Formats: sequence, C-alpha cells, structure tokens
Amino acid sequence: MGRTAALSSITDKPVGPVGYGMMSLTRPWAPVEYAEAAKIMKTALAKGANFWNGSLFYGPPHANSLQVLKYYFDQYPEDSDKVVLSIKGAYDVSTFTPNCSPEGIRTSVEEALRVLDGAKKIDVFECARVDPNVPIETSIRTLAELVAEGKIGGISLSEVSAATIRRAHAVHPISAVEIELSLFTTDALTNGVVATCHELDIPLIAYSPLGRGWLTGQFRRYEDIPENDFRRFSPRFQPAVFGENLKVVEAVENIAKRKGVTVGQVAITWVRHHGAIPIPSATRVERLLENCTDVQLSEEDMEEIQKILDRLPVQGERYGGHHEKLLFQ
Ligand SMILES: NC(=O)c1ccc[n+]([C@@H]2O[C@H](COP(=O)([O-])OP(=O)(O)OC[C@H]3O[C@@H](n4cnc5c(N)ncnc54)[C@H](OP(=O)(O)O)[C@@H]3O)[C@@H](O)[C@H]2O)c1
Repeated sequence: MGRTAALSSITDKPVGPVGYGMMSLTRPWAPVEYAEAAKIMKTALAKGANFWNGSLFYGPPHANSLQVLKYYFDQYPEDSDKVVLSIKGAYDVSTFTPNCSPEGIRTSVEEALRVLDGAKKIDVFECARVDPNVPIETSIRTLAELVAEGKIGGISLSEVSAATIRRAHAVHPISAVEIELSLFTTDALTNGVVATCHELDIPLIAYSPLGRGWLTGQFRRYEDIPENDFRRFSPRFQPAVFGENLKVVEAVENIAKRKGVTVGQVAITWVRHHGAIPIPSATRVERLLENCTDVQLSEEDMEEIQKILDRLPVQGERYGGHHEKLLFQ
C-alpha cells in the first residue's frame, strides 16, 4: 500500500485539508505552555486539521514537540486514532547534519518512541534531510524494516528531488513527501517534485505555507521581527531584501482585501490549489481558526497571483549557507 490508510482518508476529502505544523508551539524563543498548546491542538483537530507534523528537534530536548504530543495524547487518548502523526528526525541539530545511516535512523525512531511512550503511534517517519553520505536506498530499507517491525506506520520524505522520490518509492511505497511550498517558495512546481508526487499518487505536504510568517502581513519592517527570533538572521527577512519581499505580500494582500479574506488564507488556499496539504503553524487559537477557514480562489485569482509572482520574484535564499545545500537532494 502506497499510503497509510489514515493519510489516504485525509487526502481523499473533496475539499483539501489543512494540517498542523508544531514548530512554533515549541520554538525556544517564545514557548507555549503545554495546556495552551493542547487547546490549540484540540481546536485543530475539531477543525479537521488532523495531519500533525512534529519532530525530535522542534523545541529543546526536554520540551520539544514530542513531549507536547505526549502531554496531549495522555489527556485525550481518544484522539490518538483521529490524528495522522508525522515525525521527522535522523538529524543532528548540534552540527546541522543529517544522519540517515541505519544506526542514525534507528536511534532517532527509538528516541521518538521513548518520548511518546505509547501515547501515540508514529504514523509516518521521515528523515529531515537526505544524508549525502548514505544512499537513499539504504535509508529506505532501514525505514521499511521499521515499518515491518510495527515501529512506524509508513515512510515520508522531506526536501527531496524528483529523482530521489522515484528511487525511494522503488524500494518501499512512500506515504508522503514534505516540501516547502508557498507563494514565497515555488521551486517544487517547476523542478518536477510536485509533478512526480502527483504521478506516483504520493500525498504532498507543504511546509511553511505562510512563508514562515511573511504571508500573514505581520511583518512591515525588519524591526517587527521579535528579538532573538531566527528570522532576524533568515536571508529573506534581511534589511537588504525586506522591502522587495514586502511588495509580494502587499500585492497578494490587495487580492485578499478585495475578496474580504486575509493574505494568509489566500496563501494557504493557493497551496491547496496545487494539490498539497498545507501545514501552517500558529500559536494562537484565533490564528489557527483563520488558517483553517476555507476561502475560494477562482482561476482568474490564480492567474493574477501568478502574474504577481512573475513580476516580483522573492529575494534571498530559503535558509542560506550549509542548510541550502541540503535542499531538494
Ligand atoms: N521539512 C522541513 O524541513 C520543515 C521546515 C520548516 C517547517 N516545517 C513544518 O512546517 C510547519 C510550518 O512551517 P513554519 O512554522 O516554518 O512556517 P509558516 O507556517 O509558513 O508560518 C508560521 C508563522 O506564521 C505565523 N502565523 C500563522 N498563522 C498566522 C495568522 N493567522 N496570523 C498571523 N500570523 C500567523 C506564526 O506565528 P505564531 O507562531 O506567532 O503564531 C509563525 O510565525 C512547521 O511547524 C513544521 O511542522 C518543516
């Protein structure tokens, strides 16, 4: 079977679903209290956002997304089968290096299972990045063994090229492919990744669908970025390109205003129009509700957006430096 049954059921919904990314719940510079996090997660599920995306390294080791998930599912065990949980790991955050060797993957999965402690199963597991030192076939064979052992439900890929998707899928059916896809990051539409997923019928998970917050309109000046927030160092938020990138937001905002919706809602709906499940993250219930509200984009709206993207190419790399080299491997 190419997908886990649960993943299949959410992607087969007539109206594209929205998932929930857990990164901002666990960000070290502004952590959310567990009880508040649980409230947001409960609301996400009630709104149909039942694809949850966490990792071993979202948040500090003692309070990362897995601890939040354990807290949640201890309180609401009845929700365990309602959520499709995707966990990424096999990545050393101290050196920012993937470790997708058989030992690296097994250590990571065992650690995730240890923290979850039976409160929730891992429906899909993914290596955060492809390890340039390990053939993808080796990594997938290890993950396939873990599926056979019942430790994970399926295999997902993150930041992969079209060629890697094909190689991986030939070893074991791939349940999902997670890529950055947004009005700020459209590469996957032209480099074959989206087309390959559609061809192979692999669900596409679109991470950072709000351009890491750019497409919410909350940043008008560089100084609007909170102190110590990683975006102060992120290439697309730097003062040299800030003004150019703001123009993209303002142009999409004009469309949103005309339609009586928010720029974020346009951004999320645009992702769904490309057949992907967006996984925005948010730390407030009202933001989650906004992100889960269906809005309509016509063919004319989509064309108008495309003209904006053609006219105003987003400036700056996604991550910069060493991190950039690990994308679309
Ligand atoms: N595979 C990968 O390599 C990878 C990389 C990055 C992220 N991801 C996944 O993708 C998820 C989402 O990505 P992301 O957090 O980087 O970016 P994002 O969802 O594009 O943007 C999140 C930012 O937007 C803000 N926001 C969300 N909804 C809002 C609203 N309605 N109004 C105003 N602001 C709003 C959030 O603010 P607050 O947090 O302050 O509410 C946060 O700062 C992550 O949680 C993670 O699961 C995967």
